[in-house]
Amino acid sequence: MLDLTTEYMGLKLKNPIIVGSSGLTNSVESIKKLEANGAAAVILKSLFEEQILMEVNSLKSDYSTHAEEADYLLNYTRQHNLDEYLKLVSEAKQEVSIPVIASINCISSSEWTTFAKRLQEAGADGIELNMFIMPGNIDQKSEEVEQIYFDIIREVNKQVKIPIAAKIGFYFTGMANMVHNLAIRNAAAVVLFNRFHRPDIDLKKLEMTSADIFSTPQENVLSLRWIGMLSDAVDCDLASTTGIHDGDTVIKNLLAGAKAVQIATALYKKGPEYIGEILKQMEEWMNAKGFKSVNQLIGKLNHAHIKDPVLYERSQFMKYFSSAKF
Ligand SMILES: Cc1cc2nc3c(=O)[nH]c(=O)nc-3n(C[C@H](O)[C@H](O)[C@H](O)COP(=O)(O)O)c2cc1C
Repeated sequence: MLDLTTEYMGLKLKNPIIVGSSGLTNSVESIKKLEANGAAAVILKSLFEEQILMEVNSLKSDYSTHAEEADYLLNYTRQHNLDEYLKLVSEAKQEVSIPVIASINCISSSEWTTFAKRLQEAGADGIELNMFIMPGNIDQKSEEVEQIYFDIIREVNKQVKIPIAAKIGFYFTGMANMVHNLAIRNAAAVVLFNRFHRPDIDLKKLEMTSADIFSTPQENVLSLRWIGMLSDAVDCDLASTTGIHDGDTVIKNLLAGAKAVQIATALYKKGPEYIGEILKQMEEWMNAKGFKSVNQLIGKLNHAHIKDPVLYERSQFMKYFSSAKF
C-alpha cells in the first residue's frame, strides 16, 4: 500500500490533489462529487470584492443615484453575497470530511479582514487569499505593490487562527524575496502561480477579446521552476497550480518540492472522475520507481537536492545559440 498522504498548511491531506478555486467548487453537490472521486481538499470559488462592487454599481445606475439608497444597496448586495458564501462553507463542512478552504479575492487590506473571521466561524479549515495587484502604474514602485500583499496578510492574520495561503501570480521582480516575505509574515502556504484572465486581440473583429480560460500542460514549467527554486529556501508550504493535467505532472511538482497541487482545467475537461485516473497514474509511477510514500518524493529534486542547482536557474539557451541546428 502506498502512502499518498501529505501535510499542507497544517492540514492533513489524504493525497496531494486539491481542486483549485473555480466553478467546480461552487456548490455542495459538486464538492461531494469531488470528494467521492478522491479529491483531498477543495478551495472554494473566490468571493470577489470587485464583483460585489460591480453589482452594486450596476444597480445604482439602473435605479437611483441617491446616496442613502446607494448605501442601502451596497450593504444589501454585500450581505447577500457574503451570506450565501458562508452558507456554502458551513454546508460543505457538514457534508464532506475533506478540508474546505475558503478563498477571497483581496485587493486591499481593509474590509476583508473582518469577513475572514466569519469564514472561520462558518467552519472553513483555511483561507486562500487570491491576490493580484496589477503592477501597471508607472508611478507605483515594486515595494509599494508588494506592501499591499503584506498588509493584507497582516490584517487577515490578526483576525483568524486558521491557516492562510497566499495565491499569487508571477509578476514580481524579486520573486524569491517576495515568497520569503509572505512566509515570514505567517502565510502558511504560497500557491504558485494563479492563472488570471488574459487579454487577447481578435484580428477578424479588430477588437479586444479574452484568451483561453483553460491552461495547457506546457504552462506548468513556470510553476515547476519556482517551486523547485524555493521549496527548500522559504519557511512555508508551497502548492503548485497551472498546467497540471496528469499524474506525471503531479509527481514532477512534488519532486520539485510542492506539498500539494491545485487542479482546475483538467477537471473541467474530463470531469471529477479524472481525479481517480491521476491518482492511478501517480501510483503506477511510484510503484515502478520503488517509492512508498508521497513524503519521499517531496523536494527530492529541488534546488537544494540536485547535483547541479544551476539547472533551475539557467535561462539562456547557450547550448542552442552555439549550434547551427537552431
Ligand atoms: C473557470 C475558472 C474559474 C476560476 N476561478 C478562480 C477563482 O475564483 N479564484 C482563484 O483563485 N482561481 C480561480 N481560477 C484559477 C484556478 O484555481 C487555477 O489556479 C488555474 O486555473 C490554474 O490551474 P489549471 O491549469 O489546473 O486550470 C479559475 C480557473 C478557471 C478555469
